[in-house]
Amino acid sequence: MLEVGFPRPRLLFLLTRLMTVMTSSVNRLLEPQRRAIVVGASSGLGAALVRRLASEGYRVAAVARRETELAALRDSIGNDRVFPYVHDVTEFEQVPLIFNQITRDLGGLELIVYAAAVQPPVAPHEYDFVKDEAMLKTNLAGAVAWLNQAAIRFERGRAGHIVGISSIAGDRGRVGSPVYNTSKAGLNTYLEALRNRLSRHGVTVTTIKPGFIDTELLKNAPKTFWVISPDEAAARISEAIHRRAQVTYIPPRWRFVGLIVRAVPSAIFRRLNF
Ligand SMILES: NC(=O)c1ccc[n+]([C@@H]2O[C@H](COP(=O)([O-])OP(=O)(O)OC[C@H]3O[C@@H](n4cnc5c(N)ncnc54)[C@H](OP(=O)(O)O)[C@@H]3O)[C@@H](O)[C@H]2O)c1
Repeated sequence: MLEVGFPRPRLLFLLTRLMTVMTSSVNRLLEPQRRAIVVGASSGLGAALVRRLASEGYRVAAVARRETELAALRDSIGNDRVFPYVHDVTEFEQVPLIFNQITRDLGGLELIVYAAAVQPPVAPHEYDFVKDEAMLKTNLAGAVAWLNQAAIRFERGRAGHIVGISSIAGDRGRVGSPVYNTSKAGLNTYLEALRNRLSRHGVTVTTIKPGFIDTELLKNAPKTFWVISPDEAAARISEAIHRRAQVTYIPPRWRFVGLIVRAVPSAIFRRLNF
């Protein structure tokens, strides 16, 4: 008898492959659409978070000033997953417009992460208001402008998750970078107040306090240790998002550093040079 078409094992293999592809496509279609905004997404931790969230099935709006970096990020992940928006967070009056534009484009919003920050080098005897203003506007006022919009939307919808990337640096005022510390301490208090307002409306607010992460921002830090990669930081933040953490240090060992740093009496702390 004449054999027509594929030999039987090959046919079985192709059928199995087809079934797998179809099942994963159907699963993707059935997956609830999750949508996120990452502000400060063009490099370092923000970019790693965009990659992480996209790999978990989110459609992510990536916000920052550098258009080329945002486009490269989109191209490396896929234009059905990542949507770049060029924006300077210190242009506060533009925030409501761009926030509403993004939520319309994505068709909703479940998660927002504010990661934008600057930390210029500051010498021990330097009091440069231009640098200080940039830190306060980017690290704190920009966060308030963006997260206020999310708070309004999530409170109304009685759901949603707000994540602020703060720092162990906000736990105490130190000699090295007074206004960077201030911006992160202010962010901590703002996020705590948001949490107290919004948890009764079903909204989660997470404060992330990283130690050192190997990014552009770290280049200005004089001494570093326990440095982790942006991808490891993003994985740990994703885990904190899944368990709806309130305040979390990453990696967790920084929690003990925070405890000690906060416990040192001022009379001793002011003699330290870090
Ligand atoms: N690296 C560390 O060791 C460390 C430790 C603790 C906490 N953190 C925090 O982690 C977060 C991410 O920082 P990173 O370490 O990943 O540094 P990074 O690579 O320098 O990232 C900073 C991000 O903020 C964005 N940004 C800065 N100014 C902006 C502005 N005016 N408008 C819009 N976006 C702006 C930058 O994008 P554009 O320049 O393209 O605008 C960039 O995407 C920050 O909140 C930082 O404070 C970092």
